[in-house]
Order: sequence, then C-alpha cells, then structure tokens
Amino acid sequence: MASGGSGRTATAGTAALLSLVFLLLQVSAGAGAGADCHFPAVFNFGDSNSDTGGLSAAFGAAPPPNGRTFFGMPAGRYCDGRLVIDFIAENLGIPYLSAYLNSVGSNFSQGANFATAGSTISRQNTSLFLSGFSPISLDVQSWEFEQFINRSQFVYNNKGGGIYRELLPKAEYFSQALYTFDIGQNDITAGYFANMTTEQVVAFIPELMERLTSIIQNVHGFGGRNFWIHSTGPIGCLPYALIRRPDIAAVKDKVGCSVTYNKVAQLFNQRLKETVARLRKTYPDAAFTYVDVYAAKYKLISQASKLGNAPWPMAG
Ligand SMILES: *[C@@H]1O[C@H](CO)[C@@H](O)[C@H](O)[C@H]1NC(C)=O
Ligand SMILES: *[C@@H]1O[C@H](CO)[C@@H](O)[C@H](O)[C@H]1NC(C)=O
Ligand SMILES: *[C@@H]1O[C@H](CO)[C@@H](O)[C@H](O)[C@H]1NC(C)=O
Ligand SMILES: *[C@@H]1O[C@H](CO)[C@@H](O)[C@H](O)[C@H]1NC(C)=O
Repeated sequence: MASGGSGRTATAGTAALLSLVFLLLQVSAGAGAGADCHFPAVFNFGDSNSDTGGLSAAFGAAPPPNGRTFFGMPAGRYCDGRLVIDFIAENLGIPYLSAYLNSVGSNFSQGANFATAGSTISRQNTSLFLSGFSPISLDVQSWEFEQFINRSQFVYNNKGGGIYRELLPKAEYFSQALYTFDIGQNDITAGYFANMTTEQVVAFIPELMERLTSIIQNVHGFGGRNFWIHSTGPIGCLPYALIRRPDIAAVKDKVGCSVTYNKVAQLFNQRLKETVARLRKTYPDAAFTYVDVYAAKYKLISQASKLGNAPWPMAG
C-alpha cells in the first residue's frame, strides 16, 4: 500500500487539533450557514483530511497505528483518531459518514462520504501505484454523487421500503444537507512531486478553481444549498512534503515549516476565498462558508506546547 507518494497522508493529527478546528467551525457557522445548523445529512468531497474509509475500501485498509486513540483499531481514516468531518457529524447529531465506496456495513441515511485519501481536484494522468495519488479525483467523486442520487432514490422508492428506507436518504435531504469540501492539498504536492517549479504549480491554481466551481455548480443543480468549504492547510509543515522536495523545503520559518510551500498554500487559499465569494454572488439562494483551516492548523503547530498539543511534527 505505501507507495512512494504518500499523497494521502492526513494533515490532521491529534484530538486537540480537531477540537480547536471544530471550535472555529462553530464560530463561523453562526456567521455563515444560518442560525440553527439542523442539517439532516452531510455529503462530503475531499482527500485524507476527510476520508472515512473510501481509499481503504478500494485499495486496502489503512494500517495501524491509524485509529489507535479513538476507534481502538484502524477505521479507514489516515489519522490516530477522529477527523474534523467526524466532529462535524457528532455535533450535528448524525452518525459518522459511511464511505460511498464501502459496500459492507454502510448506512447512508444521513449522508455519504466521497472523499478518498490522496484525492486531487484535477484528474490524475497516472496511477496510484506510480504516484501515490488516488484516482478518485473530484470529478470522479462528483459522478459517484450523481449515481448516488439516482440509484438511492430509485431503490428507496422501488424496493417496497424495508431495509433500504433505513439505509438511504429521503429525497428532501439532498437540498437540506450540508455539502462539505476539503480538497486541493494534493494538487499542490502532486505538482511539486512531479518536479514542477513553484511558478508551474502556481500557474495551475486558476484551473483548479474552475474545476471546483463547476463541481459545486453541479451540486447546486442537484439541489444543494449549503456549502462548507475548507481552505488547505500549511503544507509546508508536513514532513512528507519537506522530504520529497528538499529545494522547496530549504528556507524555513521559525517554526520549521517551509516558507515556499506555505506561501503557495496561502495563495491557493486566497484564490479559494475569491472563488467562494463569486459563488455567493452567482447563487444568492445558497449559503457558502469558507473555513480558514490553514490558520487553525498553523496556530496549533506553531504553539503546540502552549496549547497542550504533541510537539511538532505531529503524528498522522
Ligand atoms: C492530464 O492531461 C490533460 C490532457 O493532456 C491535461 O489537461 C491535465 O492538466 C493533466 N493533468 C495533470 C494533473 O497533469
Ligand atoms: C440520473 O437520472 C436522470 C433522470 O432519469 C438522467 O437524466 C441522468 O442521466 C442520470 N444520471 C446518472 C449519472 O445516471
Ligand atoms: C441507519 O441510520 C439511521 C440513523 O441515521 C438509523 O435510524 C437506522 O436505524 C440505521 N439503520 C441500520 C440498519 O443501521
Ligand atoms: C524529480 O527529480 C529527482 C531529482 O532529480 C529525480 O530523482 C526524480 O526521479 C524526479 N521525479 C520525477 C517524477 O520526474
């Protein structure tokens, strides 16, 4: 499983990180997504930051010590415990999201997770075995979502009720749900790992934004009205990224994170924020919340001991 790329390595680490991020989420929820936050379902698109079993279902289970601090065993997450998406589910009062690709024991009545570790926004022209990046790019996740709507509603309505009504969402949930996105980190590392220059990596950010916009437009076309979009984290603080490009990692800040990697992450986030602002204008009937995950993670990394966190670099 562990091919050289490690594109799927989660940035999420400790429980402390997750609860701080969630605190942030609650604060911005008040401002952006409406007062009550009573979402009956969550549909998630993303990478290892929010994969609850997708890559494991297709390409072999995430190995130990993943899952050690909470589930007591590997649980499809590239993390020692829960991911931010798990805390979102807990706080909305819905079960942890089943991975769409997981055919065993899944329950999609209150959402589905299309994320797989190592996923990118742009389509990969290579294989997981060569690059370490997942073939389930954002467009594939969006096709899966279309199939999920069609097939789940067909089965819900035509199988005469029974168990399927307990396992699949009601039709109205697709417009009432929260649609969450956490993707882009691997597009940046994939570019760097293919030996691109920073100029080349930065040059494809606009295309990433176009692709993300068109996927969100699709979801809006299927009735989605509540969008929750995570910024990318401080990639320059991830050991696997530093190791793969020593030239990009050479100049570090006082915390030990790569200045160049993090500048590119921040540039990506600036474009993402503008993209979200444009979407708000285009679709006044929908709520779009941009979540500054970068700031939360960087704070936890740079003030790790003060915040009672494990010293950097984090596990996970
Ligand atoms: C894959 O190939 C297509 C067509 O040549 C190109 O537009 C796209 O940028 C490539 N994707 C990546 C990640 O290199
Ligand atoms: C879903 O169903 C609609 C209506 O039957 C059809 O037009 C559409 O092509 C289907 N989409 C997929 C992905 O199967
Ligand atoms: C599926 O989850 C719903 C709640 O989200 C629950 O009511 C139902 O009993 C579950 N069904 C099964 C078979 O696990
Ligand atoms: C990138 O460059 C390094 C060092 O020159 C080389 O070892 C590696 O094979 C190159 N990787 C790719 C994907 O071209």
